[in-house]
Amino acid sequence: MKSIIIMASGSGSNAENIVRHFESNKNIQVKAIFSNKKDAMVLDRASKLGISAYYFNKKALLGGQIVELFKALDPDLIVLAGFLWKVPTDLVDAFENKIINIHPALLPKYGGKGMFGMNVHRAVKENNEAESGISIHFVNENYDKGNMIFQAKTAVLDSDSAEQIAEKVHALEYEHFPKVIEKLLNGKI
Ligand code: GAR
Repeated sequence: MKSIIIMASGSGSNAENIVRHFESNKNIQVKAIFSNKKDAMVLDRASKLGISAYYFNKKALLGGQIVELFKALDPDLIVLAGFLWKVPTDLVDAFENKIINIHPALLPKYGGKGMFGMNVHRAVKENNEAESGISIHFVNENYDKGNMIFQAKTAVLDSDSAEQIAEKVHALEYEHFPKVIEKLLNGKI
């Protein structure tokens, strides 16, 4: 049985979508969801879905407790689904090529510190981009800079608001993220 740990900071709609995708899979399971926000909706979603959920603070992440805990849990993949803190080097090194992130734009555009969630979609709108999309990439010690695994595009119309761009991008995330995770775990990527 292969296992996944999800890290998320906010609503967790992607986390829920991933859990539901693998619910009836006999070979892959979501083992736990970790959040750095005590009141994040993702923790409520996890308990409703029957998945172990944990809150951790910066001290636990930077002080090495998280890496030790993750080593004990021994996941095959760590999935960042709307996780907004930088991943420390000890965690990256301990799980080389086993941590992936989804970013709601076509990297290398609109990446880096401060570029998350609606900030990204507002910037795409302000720059009158004709397209946006999703980027799924391996995580290294630099924000949004690891090797690319998968990208998908959606058209942005002049009439689209930043919220409408967000909806289109979320739809791409729901469609592709679980499938990419499954392919990675099955050695098909
Ligand atoms: C997602 O759109 C994800 O791509 C983005 O946060 C959102 C979380 O939504 N991640 C980033 O911006 C990372 N820089 P969710 O909590 O509903 O899954």
